Amino acid sequence: MNDNQLPISISKYFDSLNEFLSSTKKDNIFILADENTLAYCVPLLLKNAELLQGAEIIETESGEHNKNLSLTQNLWEYLTRKKASRNSLWINLGGGVITDLGGFVASTYKRGISFINIPTTLLAQVDASVGDKTGIDFLGYKNQIGVFSQADFTYINPLFLNTLPKRQILSGFAEIIKHALIADKHYWNAIVELDFSSFDMWEKIIRRSVEIKLSIVNADPYEQGLRKVLNFGHTVGHALETWFLNTNTPYLHGEAIAQGIIAEALLSVKNTGLSLEEFELIQAFILSIYGKCRRFDVVEVLEIMQQDKKMKHGKLQFSLLSKIGESTFDCEVPTEDVVESLHYLL
Ligand SMILES: NC(=O)c1ccc[n+]([C@@H]2O[C@H](COP(=O)([O-])OP(=O)(O)OC[C@H]3O[C@@H](n4cnc5c(N)ncnc54)[C@H](O)[C@@H]3O)[C@@H](O)[C@H]2O)c1
Ligand SMILES: [Zn+2]
Repeated sequence: MNDNQLPISISKYFDSLNEFLSSTKKDNIFILADENTLAYCVPLLLKNAELLQGAEIIETESGEHNKNLSLTQNLWEYLTRKKASRNSLWINLGGGVITDLGGFVASTYKRGISFINIPTTLLAQVDASVGDKTGIDFLGYKNQIGVFSQADFTYINPLFLNTLPKRQILSGFAEIIKHALIADKHYWNAIVELDFSSFDMWEKIIRRSVEIKLSIVNADPYEQGLRKVLNFGHTVGHALETWFLNTNTPYLHGEAIAQGIIAEALLSVKNTGLSLEEFELIQAFILSIYGKCRRFDVVEVLEIMQQDKKMKHGKLQFSLLSKIGESTFDCEVPTEDVVESLHYLL
């Protein structure tokens, strides 16, 4: 990745952000944060980016349930009352909820104003803030309303991760595992050796994940084909995430995806030629980090999956692995294999 060509920068230093801010003359600057990023990330940002000191800070409540139309409308109202113009700058400072919601608000207010993403969770740094998808949930459906819209600048600083709870770090790490599995065996070899007690390695790891995601997204920006490989682990993972939402012990997104990766790696053994040996490596690594899947109802999880839009000819469609570092998409899988892979998790 060439930081000079893409509006994206990954660094422990604030220089690139400051350069971007001084090169864009804006009337007003708005920073969207939730209560956690207000407490932990706003101070670090303002201390290091002098040009943001007069910015208006908008605080929202954290959590997926806030990624909704009513908050979107409040934010549009706020911008209108503040007379924000097309020459205003909007900054998303937070996890994927903030970058999805804030990106959508900025992209639709007055047909779109400039916005910057400053992702502060590992998941948002390697996934949500990259790839131009913005949006909100609607009528119970995730990401039902939204637009593809590129941030003017994405500034990724691993220092923000210092205050992120370990559970959230591990949730984001599942997407890193996915990136390695679908695209890069060397990267896989590097991440299985990672020492989680050291924060120094994050910059390198994040950079490789962002490179992988960008190369896939750039080849297929609107998800007509190749981009679907990014769904590896997500057909089963999303269904598990949805099922566990109705329990007392919901999974974080990445925790559910990690189990989904095991199930879909098993489907890959049966359907796309992943070797049993590689499957076992994948399974052992995931279990060592996330532990065994909690108990769930196989029939209900299958039903959730079947409501998923990836059905074709009555069969579920998956993105699967042919080996570690190589993936395919639009694989039709017999239902009995899916059921078997779900039972396998239990
Ligand atoms: N647009 C995309 O391509 C894309 C891709 C993947 C996920 N997503 C979306 O991302 C969202 C999930 O994102 P997430 O996992 O980042 O969740 P999140 O935004 O809810 O953040 C998780 C928690 O961490 C807190 N937090 C954030 N940064 C912190 C920091 N530095 N220190 C301490 N606490 C901090 C937040 O307040 C929140 O409580 C979902 O809505 C999902 O749909 C979008
Ligand atoms: Zn995901």
